[in-house]
Amino acid sequence: MTNALQDRPVLVVDFGAQYAQLIARRVREASIYSEVVPHTTPVEELLARKPGALILSGGPSSVYASDAPGLDPALLEAGVPVLGICYGFQAMAQALGGTVAKTGRREYGSTVAEVKDTESTLFNGQTPEQSVWMSHGDAVTKAPEGMAVTATTLGAEVAAFEDDEAHRYGVQWHPEVMHSTFGQRVIENFLVRGAGLEPTWTPENVVDEQVARIREQVGEARVLCALSGGVDSSVAAALVQKAIGDQLTCVFVDHGLLRQGEAKQVEQEFVAATGVDLVVVDARERFLSALAGVSDPEEKRKIIGREFIRVFEQAARDVAGSADAEGHPVEYLVQGTLYPDVVESGGGTGAANIKSHHNVGGLPEDLQFSLIEPLRTLFKDEVRQVGLELGVPEGIVWRQPFPGPGLGIRIIGEVTAERLAVLRAADAIVREELSEAGLDREIWQCPVVLLADIRSVGVQGDGRTYGHPVVLRPVSSEDAMTADWSRLPYDLLAKVSNRITNEVAEVNRVTLDITSKPPGTIEWE
Ligand code: XMP
Repeated sequence: MTNALQDRPVLVVDFGAQYAQLIARRVREASIYSEVVPHTTPVEELLARKPGALILSGGPSSVYASDAPGLDPALLEAGVPVLGICYGFQAMAQALGGTVAKTGRREYGSTVAEVKDTESTLFNGQTPEQSVWMSHGDAVTKAPEGMAVTATTLGAEVAAFEDDEAHRYGVQWHPEVMHSTFGQRVIENFLVRGAGLEPTWTPENVVDEQVARIREQVGEARVLCALSGGVDSSVAAALVQKAIGDQLTCVFVDHGLLRQGEAKQVEQEFVAATGVDLVVVDARERFLSALAGVSDPEEKRKIIGREFIRVFEQAARDVAGSADAEGHPVEYLVQGTLYPDVVESGGGTGAANIKSHHNVGGLPEDLQFSLIEPLRTLFKDEVRQVGLELGVPEGIVWRQPFPGPGLGIRIIGEVTAERLAVLRAADAIVREELSEAGLDREIWQCPVVLLADIRSVGVQGDGRTYGHPVVLRPVSSEDAMTADWSRLPYDLLAKVSNRITNEVAEVNRVTLDITSKPPGTIEWE
């Protein structure tokens, strides 16, 4: 099958930069498909992908360190347009006969670049002075033959070069970071003007392409999908539904640990918007009994994971056992694996890391399915765009990350129906007020934690109360690996605190967690 959108990918050769994924995202923001590949990939393998362009990323090394990741000059001779960034720029200069030296003029952070030619391929349409983000010790002191030097900075005489004939370009700075004012323009100029690529990678085209792909993969077989109510599984299911309609059956295990309104969102809104065939398993009682008397966080996680697999297994058996009119078996399982899971675990081709709780890969032998992973090439924000394109309800598309074990790990102490009701009520108030304040998308997530095993004394009306504290844990983050506590406005915090203590009888204290991660984690358990 032709695969037009991904036919000529822009390959970002990763020299160990923390920015390689960011570069790929920026290329995609320019509506051109891009993937990250490790620098150890042999040249033939890279070229076999028929890349539309190559971007050599930054990296932590100095080009003449003995363990510096090498750049095979053959890659530069293959006639594929190349952009070198930071380390990639220096490696390119060296490989093409230029000079890289330790000048003693290190530059870290924001610097001003003097652009010498504002009509050049990279800098067309930009100002002659621009803020750029630098991070280098070495510098290119002599550009390779044939390269025009198109920008300088205080610390780097050769801060950018271009060779339109050979379609080779480079910048010493990081155009992919926000702090480089014209960074995205530089990247787009390289892609469109330098490499002659067409911006066709749009959510609409991604949907069309995936739909065609899924149809081809699945044929007449039937497909199963575990819906969690989160963005990834919902968008994956909606895509597969669009491709193969009622050959897909979704299973939603209601474990009773979701937040207020979330089960309904899946059972009603999602079904209405996408038309998926949904089997809802009401396992609320079952999870509560299994969790009875358990306070240890790891124990809770294990129990929830185990029960989930068991319930899903049974539902899968029921669906698999019910042949459709033509007797087609269930052969596939949809999984909402995203691109970052794929790259982190082996550079684009490795098996994906699937998060513990929703890992339904651990099914018994008679329930082994082939996987359909329609989001495997997408970043989270792209998944959201695709979701919107498919008409997935906004409440689901913009849902903040929520852990698989749900409220079960936000009740410190034993999980009971009463405690769940208290936490749900407090959490609903927080979510409502954050939305009202327009802060939903600014905040990564805001767990509300019920300290169910702790009591605090309070006074309300004319009597003493002996209630429980809740903790607000609003955090800002890029990827949940690190996080900082969000500086929410005092007025908002005051309103939330008032409402919770007034409307949720069992809670008489609202506290704010002001710990970053590390040392704290985002969740409390
Ligand atoms: P921590 O608490 O480790 O959380 O800083 C990082 C991110 O992961 C989410 N999280 C989980 N997600 N199953 C999940 O699917 C889990 O057991 C789990 N524990 C934490 C958490 O909400 C945050 O986004």
